[in-house]
Amino acid sequence: MPRLLNDNNLIAVLDIGTSKTCCVLACPVNEDKAVIVGAGSHQNKGVKKSEIIGLDESVASVCHAVANAETYTKERIKTVVATACVSALNSLIIQDNLELGGTEVTQSDINRLISSAQNKIPATQDEVLHCIPIDYSLDTRHSISDPRGLTGKTLYLSLHTVMTPPYPVRDMNTVLEQSHLSCSKKVASPYAAGLACLTQEEKKQGTAVIDLGAGTTGIGVFYEDQLVYTARIPFGGDMITKAIATTFKTSLNNAEKIKTLKGSTLPSLSYDQEDVEIPLIGEDEHVSIVHVSRSKIVQTILPRTEELFQRIKALLEQTGFYDICLNFVLTGGGSQLHGINEKAATVLQRNTRTGQPLRLYDKQEIIPPHAYQSYMNCIGLLHYTTRTLLNTPTHRRDISTQGNKIMRFFHWFLDNS
Ligand SMILES: Nc1ncnc2c1ncn2[C@@H]1O[C@H](COP(=O)(O)OP(=O)(O)OP(=O)(O)O)[C@@H](O)[C@H]1O
Ligand SMILES: [Mg+2]
Repeated sequence: MPRLLNDNNLIAVLDIGTSKTCCVLACPVNEDKAVIVGAGSHQNKGVKKSEIIGLDESVASVCHAVANAETYTKERIKTVVATACVSALNSLIIQDNLELGGTEVTQSDINRLISSAQNKIPATQDEVLHCIPIDYSLDTRHSISDPRGLTGKTLYLSLHTVMTPPYPVRDMNTVLEQSHLSCSKKVASPYAAGLACLTQEEKKQGTAVIDLGAGTTGIGVFYEDQLVYTARIPFGGDMITKAIATTFKTSLNNAEKIKTLKGSTLPSLSYDQEDVEIPLIGEDEHVSIVHVSRSKIVQTILPRTEELFQRIKALLEQTGFYDICLNFVLTGGGSQLHGINEKAATVLQRNTRTGQPLRLYDKQEIIPPHAYQSYMNCIGLLHYTTRTLLNTPTHRRDISTQGNKIMRFFHWFLDNS
């Protein structure tokens, strides 16, 4: 397993987003607990739609965020677990089976079956982020979470693999190298978001976490306690900001302020009477101000958010995951838009709520509650790392944490033994 802890026994996690980079340092206690001891963030101008487009700006953002977190502990960190800074996440479910001939299932049978399924991952250059055993069946018995010790003829496995094109990952590696950091694991951000804020019940029943970022929207579907599907749509909160800026001829900074302070997806008659001041672009902002009703702002935002949730619904229907999504949980900066929950519930026709971090051990409020949405992925990364450190048995664990080189050796060993 790659090295997850720093020399000072701290976990360091990093989320490089389109609008900012966040870093959190924590001390692991047990599988469900890590005490937060440092946190820092910094704006990022080198990322567009969740991919690196400017190396220097991204390196500066990472270095500042990490340095801000390090001021709490006064110690340097060298190793991070990070969300993958990529715009595309591709889910693939691989089915495989192993003949047992009427014997008891052993851990070694499971390892062999997982390895055989991994050999079926298409040989592309894509980076494999996750390999998660999501379901076992034994002959006619289905949905077995732990088949070890059971007896049968044939053991079946569904393995969820999450892949991403290679070049954005290489650029992320370059940014980390130039920031003097090594990355022991890259995690799909909707996976992290789900681990941060979904309850056990939601993960079991079937729930989609929707990470509404600045450049993209991440989707992660959890079912029977595991991540079964993930995707990313190139549509984020920045598009709403741009729509406001273009419609009312104002700067992006002003449009951002108007969106966060006066934006909503819930039309109201009272908004017809509510005046919003908009400084015009290119003019002296104190002189050239136009007045529009708040309703006009809502009318600009509404079609965009409606389109986004329709796209999410269409994607989940197309891939066959919509029926198992009984709940939707919204996270990320965009989930703070007034009325977004109600809009999501109407379009998606499901229970919808805003995610809040569960099991957060931060008594000193190093992460202030108003910044929870910005740090949600980092909090999820802490859960991912503590779980992995604790060595959850391989029949349930994300096998990709073993690293590609070791996996290849494992395949070679099995093929030749
Ligand atoms: N109160 C608010 N109302 C509406 N939108 C908001 C609010 N606060 C933040 N946002 C939006 O949230 C977005 C930033 O969210 P977040 O920090 O999750 O993005 P990111 O992680 O940097 O981007 P990505 O995940 O796409 O790479 C911005 O578009 C910002 O305008
Ligand atoms: Mg994000």
